[in-house]
Amino acid sequence: GAPVEVDITGLAPGELRTVEWRGKPVWILKRSPEMVESLKKTDAEVADPKSERNPEELTPEYARNEYRSRKPDILVAVGICSHLGCSPTTKLQPGPQPSLPDNWQGGFLCPCHGSTFDLAGRVYKNVPAPDNLEVPPHMYVGDTKLVIG
Ligand code: FES
Repeated sequence: GAPVEVDITGLAPGELRTVEWRGKPVWILKRSPEMVESLKKTDAEVADPKSERNPEELTPEYARNEYRSRKPDILVAVGICSHLGCSPTTKLQPGPQPSLPDNWQGGFLCPCHGSTFDLAGRVYKNVPAPDNLEVPPHMYVGDTKLVIG
């Protein structure tokens, strides 16, 4: 499939946009400074904090960092659960919410079997999903044009 170009000008902190790439939903999340900071808190709660599992398939080399991205504030991830392929729902706000851990820092919840992911798409420990969400190949052209694929 052809690469998808997205102009991310105007994406506000905390805003998530979904685009389609190769028939898959790809999330583009502009993380606020608080959201970026929250990744330090979830580091110990997630199963593969450094994206060491299946790196060839799941995490391009430039995203094998604590943000899982090229830019700390922009997450680009495929919105498909690594368990059986459902679409996780966005639960971006921190704080107690039904079906989520008490110390929830914001992230994603898969409605099918309850797997949870942090704001870098890193899978929490002790959930059915085995892996982090896929970070698709992507690059920036200038500051505001994102090319996926
Ligand atoms: Fe997501 Fe099973 S498909 S938890």
